[in-house]
Amino acid sequence: MDVFALAEACIAATSVEDKLARSSEAAALVAIGDFATETSIEPEPIAQPGRPPRPRLVPPRELPQRGLGSAEGRAALVHAVAHIEFNAIDLAWDAVYRFREMPREYYRDWAKVAADETRHFRMLAERLAEMGHAYGDFDAHNGLWEMAVKTSRSCLERMALVPRVLEARGLDVTPGMIARLRDVGDANTIEILKVILGEEIAHVAAGSRWFAWCCAHDGVDADATFARLICEHASGALKPPFNEAARRAAGFSADELECLMAQSAA
Ligand SMILES: [Fe+2]
Ligand SMILES: [Fe+2]
Repeated sequence: MDVFALAEACIAATSVEDKLARSSEAAALVAIGDFATETSIEPEPIAQPGRPPRPRLVPPRELPQRGLGSAEGRAALVHAVAHIEFNAIDLAWDAVYRFREMPREYYRDWAKVAADETRHFRMLAERLAEMGHAYGDFDAHNGLWEMAVKTSRSCLERMALVPRVLEARGLDVTPGMIARLRDVGDANTIEILKVILGEEIAHVAAGSRWFAWCCAHDGVDADATFARLICEHASGALKPPFNEAARRAAGFSADELECLMAQSAA
């Protein structure tokens, strides 16, 4: 089995159904099969993964802020989370595809993450359908993939800035989303977000594990390196309140949590 070719095909798939089907199938193969990881190829960054013609991608500032009081506003929220999950499928496969010569467990971890993200997207797409909408109905932004391109040359930077900043941000904001949905009585969406929140802790934890592995491999101090990377690339993504319990469960050290609070207050 060529794990890199499987990952590349998932990233390249353009239709929603094709990407989901390939992703589930590839994740199942990686979970049970044997694969070689030795290769001399260093893949080029992928400027844009395969994606359907909609949603339209716009700068974040052009996305309207909608309240959750209306059915349209609630559907827009579900769509926004679905878009994150759709990107997360590509991000997980890109973690597999891009960084060669990592231990086998690394590829199994990110294939498992891809399987989770695929399931998260399906749950949200079903919820959107119940609301009379489909993925693509609202505009979206491309911030997640932009970070993938930025970190395409270094597994250490990818682990620090994608799972440990962007996915960890999901841990921080989801409890607030659940509270706002409770105010408007949307129990069905709340159930889905609870499942996602629980499972995302494991994704951030995988990021913590492989970030620590990369730091040990390169002989650099993990806390200092993380502090430098968030300062250089992601200070805008740090907004309190932080979900300290979830972040601790996902492998954030006391020093790192303190550093996040200090940076966000600066
Ligand atoms: Fe997810
Ligand atoms: Fe995730």
